[in-house]
Amino acid sequence: MKSRSEHREFQRSYFKRAVDFFRQPLPEDIDKRTREIVRIADIKASDKILDVGTGTGVLIQYFLEFGVPPQAITGCDLSKEMLDEAKQRYPSVTFVHSDIDEFPAAGEPFDVAFFNGCFGNMYNPVSTLQNTSKLLSSRGRIVISHPLGNNFLTGLSESEPELVLRLLPSLEDLQQWCQSEIGAELELFHDTGDFYVVILAMKRSKNEH
Ligand SMILES: C[S@@+](CC[C@H](N)C(=O)[O-])C[C@H]1O[C@@H](n2cnc3c(N)ncnc32)[C@H](O)[C@@H]1O
Repeated sequence: MKSRSEHREFQRSYFKRAVDFFRQPLPEDIDKRTREIVRIADIKASDKILDVGTGTGVLIQYFLEFGVPPQAITGCDLSKEMLDEAKQRYPSVTFVHSDIDEFPAAGEPFDVAFFNGCFGNMYNPVSTLQNTSKLLSSRGRIVISHPLGNNFLTGLSESEPELVLRLLPSLEDLQQWCQSEIGAELELFHDTGDFYVVILAMKRSKNEH
């Protein structure tokens, strides 16, 4: 097992090499599912959004479509090459070049944090959720999603075991994490095998953020 910093370097170099693939337009079916993820998340035009592992920014067009202004969107990614592409596509959006586990906590809290197509890449999912929850407002939510779900990730984790460390969390994992590790409620669990969306709603008093 790699150390956290070795894992981060592996992710960086993998996505540096893969950026041309991610520059291509999404296949129509995946694009539709990606839009569906943002629709299900039921974001409000007034929400401040953090897109974790934003990549080339494939979710951003849908945040905009559902009324969120670019100034209220922040994309975070540890790959500079992926972010360069996202910045070109969305010059008015804020992008932060960081591992989500080291994301600077200063500034206005976010209302929704998305992890689309990247949660299986996290080194330690529980600590990532704990760190992310500290960046959220008292009504904050975390959306974990994959347009092709665990069926796709199973194949990817077999061919690229160092890239995808584990499958997306089961209902039992999430229930246990919410109860004892994260201080959140499981608002939605939707897993058909080839489409996955989970929403966690923070349980915190207002004065904690
Ligand atoms: C498969 S791409 C998905 C990109 C995009 N969310 C999408 O749906 O197409 C995964 C992205 O997550 C980023 N990533 C992986 N681990 C990360 C971490 N710990 N913090 C921030 N970004 C991370 C990678 O650099 C890569 O750009």
